[in-house]
Amino acid sequence: MTPKRLTFEFVREFEDIYSLGGGHITAALCSCSPPILFDPGVSAFGPLYLRELARRVSNTDNLILALSHTHFDHCGAAAYLKRKIPSAQIVTSQRGADILKRPNAVELIRKLNAEYEQEMADELAGEDVTFTALEATLKLSDGNAIRLNGGRICIAYETPGHTRDSLTYFFPDTGIAFVGDAAGGLDLGFIHSPYLVSFADYLASIDKIQSLNPRAICIPHNGILIGDDVPRYLNEAKAAAIEYKDIIVRYLDMYRGDQEKVVERITAEEYDAVTEHIQKRQPFILNLRAKVAAVAAWLENRKKGEIDGNE
Ligand SMILES: [Fe+2]
Repeated sequence: MTPKRLTFEFVREFEDIYSLGGGHITAALCSCSPPILFDPGVSAFGPLYLRELARRVSNTDNLILALSHTHFDHCGAAAYLKRKIPSAQIVTSQRGADILKRPNAVELIRKLNAEYEQEMADELAGEDVTFTALEATLKLSDGNAIRLNGGRICIAYETPGHTRDSLTYFFPDTGIAFVGDAAGGLDLGFIHSPYLVSFADYLASIDKIQSLNPRAICIPHNGILIGDDVPRYLNEAKAAAIEYKDIIVRYLDMYRGDQEKVVERITAEEYDAVTEHIQKRQPFILNLRAKVAAVAAWLENRKKGEIDGNE
């Protein structure tokens, strides 16, 4: 069964928020005071972010670098920007703050970013954009606010499922939300559903974003959605997550719980059978493995619940 292709009208700019590109350029900039740069992704784009900041905000003192989660493609340029703007503040969750200091996690983030640095070596012209360990200035839990000048606030909501450390940032005055990868992303007409740690949490997080009634949502790999596209996208993201879960459940059943066989089957159907790819094959498989494990765990929990419920 082939899911239907979806179309959404992503915009680059909405009121005081500006998406720097989509695709591998995940960052969005809010021109509040101090300015907030959300998800300064892959390190190789660090100089581009710096140029955009110079162009779009008059004062970068105390610039806030707010991370939705600590995947390499969402935080990679934070170290470079912190070196260039020493007063910059790193904002993340408690879990995220721990990851940014853990040597093996830092090494992995550095290594994954280095691949892009090599590909863009000509453009970088020797500029050192290397990722290094970072100390968080502010660690946010569910409902905590970033306090801005003029009494404005930006509230962080924990929206796990994609990762354990995922945060959604929401401006209650403008109704704009930066959701990270908490509600997936649109890729070639399909919403992909990256519930890498928990399927149930992923669905609950989309509900949580919906309950904020955002006027606009910023999806790092795509851009900004406004108006009716917001609830339509969130509903479609949930439907896509459920549909994908059903496929995994069916294959888990077919292969008697052998997760690796399910991964092989879906990779052959979804990846190897098509020619156009945004993601490389290895990360596709790693993510798929995590999703299959998340659905297997969800099935296990549901079984336990049914047994407990019968007692
Ligand atoms: Fe991610």
